[in-house]
Order: sequence, then structure tokens, then C-alpha cells
Amino acid sequence: MDICVVGTGYVGLVTGTCFAEKGNKVCCVDIDEERVAKLKGGVCPIYEPGLGELIEKNVRAGRLSFSTDIKDGLDGTQLCFIAVGTPPADDGRADLAQVLAAVDGIASALTHSCRIVVKSTVPVGTGTLLCRRIKNHLRERGMEKIDLEVLSNPEFLKEGMAIEDCLHPDRVVIGAASEEARAVMRELYLPFADESRIIFMDPASAEITKYAANTMLAARISFMNEIAQLCDRVGADVLSVKRGMASDRRIGEFFLDAGCGYGGSCFPKDVQALCCIGEAQGLDMTMASAVGKVNRKQKQQLHMMMRVRFGAEMEGLTAAIMGLSFKPRTDDMREAPSRTLIHGLLNCGASVRAYDPIAMAEAKKLLPSVVKYAPDVETLLSGADCAAIVTEWQEFKDADWQRLGALMKRKIVFDGRNICDPCRMRSLGFEYYCIGRNM
Ligand code: UGA
Repeated sequence: MDICVVGTGYVGLVTGTCFAEKGNKVCCVDIDEERVAKLKGGVCPIYEPGLGELIEKNVRAGRLSFSTDIKDGLDGTQLCFIAVGTPPADDGRADLAQVLAAVDGIASALTHSCRIVVKSTVPVGTGTLLCRRIKNHLRERGMEKIDLEVLSNPEFLKEGMAIEDCLHPDRVVIGAASEEARAVMRELYLPFADESRIIFMDPASAEITKYAANTMLAARISFMNEIAQLCDRVGADVLSVKRGMASDRRIGEFFLDAGCGYGGSCFPKDVQALCCIGEAQGLDMTMASAVGKVNRKQKQQLHMMMRVRFGAEMEGLTAAIMGLSFKPRTDDMREAPSRTLIHGLLNCGASVRAYDPIAMAEAKKLLPSVVKYAPDVETLLSGADCAAIVTEWQEFKDADWQRLGALMKRKIVFDGRNICDPCRMRSLGFEYYCIGRNM
């Protein structure tokens, strides 16, 4: 198939490349000239394991191209995907400015019938709104004969695992009204997923599915973070509790890891946007708003633990931050718990030194300039009063704490991701604090 993808951000670039990998001819369009120039020059503008190689392979095979001109993308295409950002507006709602600009661009260039597929995460009813908007444009251009349908096809890929998630999805959700559109989407996705994993529904249900899925996953994390707080109060072990719960197949084991809070560009934004969508309908959205509230508190947890431990000593303390990105295998710092911790520490007068295997360049753009960076874990921990593990990078899981402890001024570790064994850490002479396992 000939496919156009508008937006070369995370979702657009990954899905466009994966469509090409399955033999489709894909043109990815973006208004950002610098980004498109990079892509044309063979440079991948985002950090995602395996993506650069896959782009290169498909460009070389003549299946993947990039352009700043929407006309190039629409030329001969049956399907035009919209994969631009929907960041949170000040009131928490999804800001649709980029989506609207994208459809206006499409509507002003379209010369043939086409299906517009929305991959961006958008509030319920957006598909209908976009369809009306494009049809108005076409009418103004005297092109009302053009046949048009707007579909919803939310994306479920995870950063750091994006290629695998995209090529082998658990399911594909398609909100489409017409049989014809469903048939085209089935044909597109059959190389990715069995028929049974392609789920058709109306566009509004598909739009809600995306928010509901992310909020459910976030709810599991917030629930476990609350249980972890309880475990610490009563002397229980949240990991044992998780194992006991997860063995029930109805519950399962995924997304039940307590920690220092969830971050990223999706969960915090989508949970809040779902609250706004419900509230606009006169609903309280009690569950969804509690999920967000618990997480905001959890992101303060490491800082709180340090304040309890150090009190007035916080001023002048050297804290070593292990991990800056919101999770491993990405350099994304959006809503990262490390940011909450670092701001808290600086406000208390502590000195902050940080190390992350991938995210330091990104961190330098976002964090206050007083934050110092270490080139490796050894330098990071040398002479530090304490360490805080904020991102569970494999490198930190493999750390030799006996050796690292000898470099520290004081052997105190706050493990925000429960990656160390509490008994071993204590037997090595560490004062060790973690989340829900402080028995
Ligand atoms: C999330 C969803 O998992 C994807 O399905 C979805 O497509 C994506 O949002 C999106 O809407 O685009 P992502 O934000 O890349 O993906 O990251 P996750 O792997 O889901 O992790 C989110 C946060 O939850 C991280 O901060 C992670 O550390 C935290 N987390 C995850 C926990 O604290 N505990 C867990 O058990 C799992």
C-alpha cells in the first residue's frame, strides 16, 4: 500500500518505518525541516534501540522516504496517518493544535479520496470533529466530491521497546464506521497480527480505549505504590505481596512494580486528559483522578525518605543520582521522577551529582545548571554522602556494590526501583532504603 504518515515524532517514525518494513511504500511528512533533513541524511532524530538501522534498511530498499511537503505524502496514497503530538494544555486537556494543523494541511492538498487515520491520542469525538473540518475545507475548494473517512487507530507501543511492540502488537484497535475502511485496515495489519488480534469498533470507542488502557496500567502502578506505603508501615514486603497477587491469572504480573512513580510523555498526560474528558461530561472520574494523585505523591517519596533520614543535614549533602530518564532504554526525561527528586534536593540546599547511561545530554537541557554530571557510576559515587537509584538501568542492576560502597563517603542508598537485594546491601554494610521493602 501507499501510505502517508504525518509527524515524525516517536509514534509516527516508528509506525511509518514498521509499515515500510512490511513491504508498504511509506512517506513520512513533517513540518520540521531540520528533522526531515536529518532523516534524509540517514540520522535518526530520536533515541530508540534498533530504529536507526530499520530506517536505513527501508530507505535503501526504496520503501521509506521523508518530506516536508504534504503533497509528496498524499501523492497516490490510500491511507494518511496522523501521528503528531497532543501535549497537555494548561488545564490538563489534550492540546489538539498540531492535529488541527495537520488536517488543515491535508485538506488543502488533497485531490483524491483518502482515509485519514488518527494515531495521535485524542479526546473522544475528535474523529468526528476532524471529518467535519476537512469536509468544510474541501467544500471551500469546490472538491466536495472527494470521498473521505476519518478512522481511529490508537498506538500502544512503549518507548525502548517500540519496534518490537509495533511489529508484534498484542492487539490492533481500529475505530472505523465503514466496511470498506475496515477491509483496508485489516489488509494493512494482517502481516503484523492474527485476525483475532485485530479489534474493530466505532471510532469513539477506539479513542476511549487508548485513554482507558493507559489509565488502567497507571492505576496498577499507583495501587502497588499505595500498597508499598502500607507494607513499610506494617513491616511487610511489597515484592512478596506482588508475587502472591500476580500468581492469580486474573491479576497477572505486569505493571505491578512499586517504585518512585511513573513518568513519561503518556501516563501522566493521558490520566489527566481522561479526567478532563469525563468531567466535561459531568462525571467525577474518582478512580482516574486518584491514580494521578497517588503518583504525584509517589514522585516525592525518595525526597521525603531523604529528608527523614538527613533532616537539617540536607544542606551541604552530596547526593548521587543514578538514572535520569523516566525509564530505561530511553533518553526521555518528560515527567521523569528524577526531576522531582533533583528539584526537591536543590531546594533543601543539597549538591546534586547525576549519571545516566543515555539521558545526560537531554538532562543538561532541562535541569538547573547547578546539577553536576559524572561520566560513570564510579565517579558519580566517589565521595558521595548517599546514592538514589531512580531509573532501573541494567548497568545499575549489575553494579558491584562492594566495590562502589568503598568509594562513597557514607554508604547510604535509597533504591527507588527496588533493584537491590535488601539483605545483601545490609550485609555489605549499607544503610539501605527502598520502596515497600523496609522490613
Ligand atoms: C506507555 C504504555 O505502556 C504504552 O502501551 C503506550 O502506547 C504509551 O504509554 C503511549 O501512550 O504512547 P511508555 O510511556 O513508553 O508506554 O512507558 P511504560 O513502559 O509504560 O512506563 C511508564 C512508566 O511507568 C515508567 O515511568 C515506568 O518506570 C513506570 N512503571 C512501569 C512502574 O513504575 N511500575 C511498573 O510496574 C511499570
